[in-house]
Amino acid sequence: LTLSERSLAAVADFIKSGKARRIVVMTGAGISTAAGIPDFRSPDTGLYANLAALNLPEPEAVFDLTFFCENPRPFYALARELYPGARYRPTVSHVFIALLARKGLLHMLFTQNIDCLERAAGIPPDRIVEAHGSFATQRCIDCKEPFEEARMRDFVARAEVPRCERDGCGGLVKPDIVFFGEALPSAFFEQIGKAKEADLILVMGTSLQVHPFAGLPNMADEKVPRVLFNLEQVGSLGTQADDVMVLGDCDAGVRKLADELGWRDELEKTWRE
Ligand code: OAD
Repeated sequence: LTLSERSLAAVADFIKSGKARRIVVMTGAGISTAAGIPDFRSPDTGLYANLAALNLPEPEAVFDLTFFCENPRPFYALARELYPGARYRPTVSHVFIALLARKGLLHMLFTQNIDCLERAAGIPPDRIVEAHGSFATQRCIDCKEPFEEARMRDFVARAEVPRCERDGCGGLVKPDIVFFGEALPSAFFEQIGKAKEADLILVMGTSLQVHPFAGLPNMADEKVPRVLFNLEQVGSLGTQADDVMVLGDCDAGVRKLADELGWRDELEKTWRE
């Protein structure tokens, strides 16, 4: 597998020639910033730069299990901002991934995002690995009893901390998002082979700072072309012969690729629907 040159036109030719039938996409918070959801590590706008008011030992503590057990309030102060709902719509980048699926080209999407916008964009659930879990379900961290979604919504809206309602338990309730100190969902490890089988890798909107997710782009053979849609260079992207760097806004980059593929009208129409 090789590209004729390191350009989006070459990537589009590669896809159109039928050589990319197992496209694996790896995403992070940067694909949702255009929806109005802040990312984590961008210098001024990222969540970690804006947590000073919560008096955390370090910004990542808000997603740290040990810290959460001592003080769950900062997490719930933040959860209100991040909680999925009708407020947020999928971006052009989400819709592009849904088009790949519709055309039978999406082998798997590995996402670190917890906003559920992949599902909202119509990507089939069996093609999504939510590597850091999601806000879709929640449970008690002690007895693991699930907690009702409608009740959760109320607590989050009031920035209050929900407690387990099973007789005598009273443990802290936490959404099933993966905190530092927790294992990734079993689906991540069950599906990791899909990343090795990729014939084209698209990395979008992630700083690749968090492991083991950050290792995914390195799992396929180094001859497999990789495309980075991101504001900045990240990880090992750019070091292999067939890496294509599309530095800038990911929606803009994806639109250019859609132009090259002749999918632009379909992309815009699906996004507006
Ligand atoms: P980060 O905030 O670390 O990285 C977002 C990346 O997207 C950065 O490289 C930005 O430059 C880039 N970016 C932002 N807006 C963009 C745009 N419109 N177009 C293109 N690129 C853009 O977010 P993640 O990599 O997702 O963990 O962070 C990984 C994990 O760290 C998260 O899943 C979260 C956090 O701790 C948990 O919640 C467990």
